[in-house]
Amino acid sequence: MFQTPFFIILFLLVIPHQTAQHYPNSKFISSPEIINQTCAKCAELSDVFSYDFCAASLQTIPVSHATTNRQGLALVAMELALANATTTVLTIKEMLNTNDSTSLDPFSSICLKDCLELYSDGIATLVDAVGAFMSQKYETAGVLLSAVMEAPVTCEEGFEEMKGQVESPVVKENYDLFQLCDIALCIARLLSSHWWV
Ligand SMILES: *[C@@H]1O[C@H](CO)[C@@H](O)[C@H](O)[C@H]1NC(C)=O
Ligand SMILES: *[C@@H]1O[C@H](CO)[C@@H](O)[C@H](O)[C@H]1NC(C)=O
Ligand SMILES: *[C@@H]1O[C@H](CO)[C@@H](O)[C@H](O)[C@H]1NC(C)=O
Repeated sequence: MFQTPFFIILFLLVIPHQTAQHYPNSKFISSPEIINQTCAKCAELSDVFSYDFCAASLQTIPVSHATTNRQGLALVAMELALANATTTVLTIKEMLNTNDSTSLDPFSSICLKDCLELYSDGIATLVDAVGAFMSQKYETAGVLLSAVMEAPVTCEEGFEEMKGQVESPVVKENYDLFQLCDIALCIARLLSSHWWV
C-alpha cells in the first residue's frame, strides 16, 4: 500500500515543470522570490503557519528551484508531505516492533497504533489531494488537505491524555506533516479565492 505514494512522488518530480506551461499568464517570478512571497502571504493569513518552516522546506529540494508558480510549490509541499508521512509510518512501525523494554510503555504503544492508522489514512487522502490539485479542483484539494491535517493533530492529542507522564515520540513528525500540508492548503485557498498577489 505504500507503493502508491512512492510512485506519485516520482511522478511529481516531473509535474511542476508541466504545470508551469499550463499557466502562461502567471507572471514569471524567480523561485526564491515566489517562495518567500508565498510563505510570507500564508504566514500573514494564519497564526499557526510558520514562515521559517515554509521557506526552509520549499528551498530544500532542487525541483522547487525550477518552480515559478504556486501550483508547482503546492505540489512540492505535498510531495514532501507524502515522503514525510511515509517515513513516519516506517518510524512508528519500528518503534512498535522493538522489544526493548525501555522504549515503549503500554499507553504510548496504544497511542502509536492509533497514529499509525491515522497516518495510513492520511497518506491515502493526501494522494487524493494531489489528484484534486492536478485537476485544478482547489476547493476539493483544500477539504482533503484539512482532513489530512487531522491525522497529526489527533495523533498528538492521544498523548496529551497522559501529559506529564508520557511524551509523544512523534512531536516533530506531527509538526512537520501539519506544516507541509498547511503550505499546500494555503496555496489551494489562494488559488481558489483568487487572492492573487
Ligand atoms: C528570501 O528569504 C531568505 C531568508 O528569509 C533571504 O535570505 C532571501 O534573500 C530572500 N530572497 C528573496 C528573493 O527575497
Ligand atoms: C519532513 O519534512 C521536513 C521539511 O521538509 C524535513 O525537515 C524533515 O526532515 C522531514 N521528516 C521526515 C521524517 O521525512
Ligand atoms: C518481540 O517479542 C515477541 C514475543 O514476545 C516476538 O514474537 C517478536 O518476534 C519480537 N520482535 C522482535 C522485533 O524482536
